Amino acid sequence: MIIIKSPPEIEAMRLAGAMVGQFFEEVERHVRSGVATRELEEFAEEFVAKHGVRGAFKGYLGYPANLCTSINEEVVHGIPSGTRVLREGDIVSIDFGVVRDGFFGDAARTYAVGKISAGSENLLATTERALTKAIGVSLPGNRLGDISAAIQEEAEGAGFSVVRDFVGHGIGRTLHEEPQVPNFGTPGTGPKLMPGMVLAIEPMVNEGLFPVEVLPDGWTVVTRDRKRSAHFEHVVAITADGNRILSLP
Ligand code: MF3
Ligand code: CO
Repeated sequence: MIIIKSPPEIEAMRLAGAMVGQFFEEVERHVRSGVATRELEEFAEEFVAKHGVRGAFKGYLGYPANLCTSINEEVVHGIPSGTRVLREGDIVSIDFGVVRDGFFGDAARTYAVGKISAGSENLLATTERALTKAIGVSLPGNRLGDISAAIQEEAEGAGFSVVRDFVGHGIGRTLHEEPQVPNFGTPGTGPKLMPGMVLAIEPMVNEGLFPVEVLPDGWTVVTRDRKRSAHFEHVVAITADGNRILSLP
C-alpha cells in the first residue's frame, strides 16, 4: 500500500528535507583532496547535533554511520573511514538523511574532487540530468514506470547503465515505504501517481555494465567491472498541480 500524505504532512516532510538540502550545501566545501571520508562523517555528526535532528541511517539495519560515502567504483553504502582519503580526480557520492518531527528526509549527490576526467564529468552530469528528467515526469496521472523509464533512457542514451539491484522508494514516517522506484522500466506501467505520494528518486548510474556486488564489509556496493558509478537523489512529493522537491534547502 502506498501511503498518501496530507498537505500538513508534506509540509513536515519539507522541513525534514530542507535540513538535508542545507547539509549538502554545507558539505560541499569539505569535499577536497586530502580529506578522509571519516572527516565528512564527523561534519555530519556535528550537523545533526547542532540542528537537533537524528541521522536517518545510523543504526538502520546496523549501519554504523550518518553518511554513506562511496568513492569511484563504489556505488552506494560506502562506510566513512579514516583511511579512505579523497584524491584529486576522484568522484565521491554522499548520501545523507535525517528524521525531523517524525518524518524522514533523504538525498544524495556525487561530487568531483578537484579536476576529474571528461568521462567522469559526463557520468555526473548524465546522472543528475536523469534525476531532473525523472522529476519532470513525476506528475499526477502519470505512472511509476514513466519515472523509471525516464532515468533509464537518459542513462543508456549516454552509453551508461543503470543499477538493477538497488532502487528508489516511497518515504514518510519510515525511510523505506512502498513503492519501490526502480531506475529502469517501461513507460505507462505501474501504479498511477497521485497527489500526496512522496518518492525518493535515486538514479545510480554506472560508467560500464550494471552488475554490482557487495564487499566483505557487508555494506559497500561496488560495480562488478570496477568502473565508476554516480548517484543523485531527491525526495519529491506529487501535488495536485505537479510536484515539489522536498529535499532542497
Ligand atoms: N539513500 C539510501 C536509501 O534510501 C541510504 C540508506 S543507507 C542505510 O536506502 F545505511 F541506511 F541503509
Ligand atoms: Co534513499
